[in-house]
Amino acid sequence: AAGEIKDEARPDTLAAIEKALQTCRRCPIAELGTNPVMGEGLLDAPLMIVGEQPGDQEDVQGRPFVGPAGQLLDMHLAQAGIDRQGAYVTNTVKHFKYVMRGKRRLHQSPTAKEIDSCRWWVDSERALVKPRLVLALGASAARGVLGRTVSISRARGVPKMLDDGSELWITAHPSYLLRLEGPAREEQEKLFTADLAAVAARLTELV
Ligand code: URA
Repeated sequence: AAGEIKDEARPDTLAAIEKALQTCRRCPIAELGTNPVMGEGLLDAPLMIVGEQPGDQEDVQGRPFVGPAGQLLDMHLAQAGIDRQGAYVTNTVKHFKYVMRGKRRLHQSPTAKEIDSCRWWVDSERALVKPRLVLALGASAARGVLGRTVSISRARGVPKMLDDGSELWITAHPSYLLRLEGPAREEQEKLFTADLAAVAARLTELV
């Protein structure tokens, strides 16, 4: 089809992915002029954490999960006893998609088509890092890893086997928690805490 990109050979190092991302035009998000944010962490990390896309802060700093959602994630990881430094942290979509509201850049969810275009990169990262366990945060991340849409409420707590034998665990996105207040927030925080505790327990079995 017009505009379709033939799959090239996969980059064979994380550095090669990072370099190739600079000129990626697989989807239109890059036209917004933001910078691709590469995953970060250890090659050979047993745990890969996948978010949706970089936000405003991540775009500015060039690192995943360093803004408000990242701080909430860090707090929960620490509480669950999961060492972020020992994990590989990335996003399913590599560029920040936004609309301007006054002077602020407001997050916009990527479309299924954009997520599917960007799967090439997260698949390439996964092929190199070879994590034993992949933790997808939210529906976009789950689609980015699985290639289809799942419901978080049904998928959470039930690991799925991926093609390479690793396990995919799905939970909510921390930005979702940040948008809630009161009892709804409390309830979702509890579910998130339980999901991370299950992942922490499973990780100790796997490694
Ligand atoms: N939200 C994400 O999904 N990823 C980030 O890196 C930051 C916020």
